[in-house]
Amino acid sequence: MKISIVYHSESGNTEAIARIIAKGTLSVDSVNVKPMSIADIDEDFLNQSAAVIFGCPTYAGTFSHQMKSWLDSASLKKLEGKLAAVFATENYLGGGADTALMGIVGHLLVGGMLVYSGGVAHGHPYTHFGAVCIREGDEFQQQRALIFGERIAKKAKQLFR
Ligand SMILES: Cc1cc2nc3c(=O)[nH]c(=O)nc-3n(C[C@H](O)[C@H](O)[C@H](O)COP(=O)(O)O)c2cc1C
Repeated sequence: MKISIVYHSESGNTEAIARIIAKGTLSVDSVNVKPMSIADIDEDFLNQSAAVIFGCPTYAGTFSHQMKSWLDSASLKKLEGKLAAVFATENYLGGGADTALMGIVGHLLVGGMLVYSGGVAHGHPYTHFGAVCIREGDEFQQQRALIFGERIAKKAKQLFR
């Protein structure tokens, strides 16, 4: 089962979290995961993916304009019916990452994706709208990102195996 991680990252923080989330997905059997910058998308892999996890930096309290531009020009029809999840990085607590996540989620709903956060049903660590890290994340935030990846992969397998 293929899982794509589509991210925008200028200074490397979001890319680092994408790689941690990817590692988390690999704790689920038969997952083939590919983190991809929006500047270098493997369209075939993306189209074949059961789940797509999107991440970007927070800019001015919302998601980056580069990610918005990518989402605006992506063929959302191809993403229809896939599981989706989101993550974001920010510089400081309260910097707007939650708003960034909800902005991306709006696009994914328009595209008919099945958005999943992991929720709070699994207990600690809680993810509300998606994974959030301050810059490259401290140990706790990185661990949460790892578990986030695992939970998304488990759900994708449950739905699409
Ligand atoms: C133009 C711009 C606007 C930003 N706005 C915010 C913001 O509103 N809140 C915040 O917490 N961080 C903000 N940041 C910081 C980035 O979200 C943060 O450093 C992020 O981790 C960078 O990700 P990257 O290394 O993947 O590019 C901003 C950075 C830039 C370049």
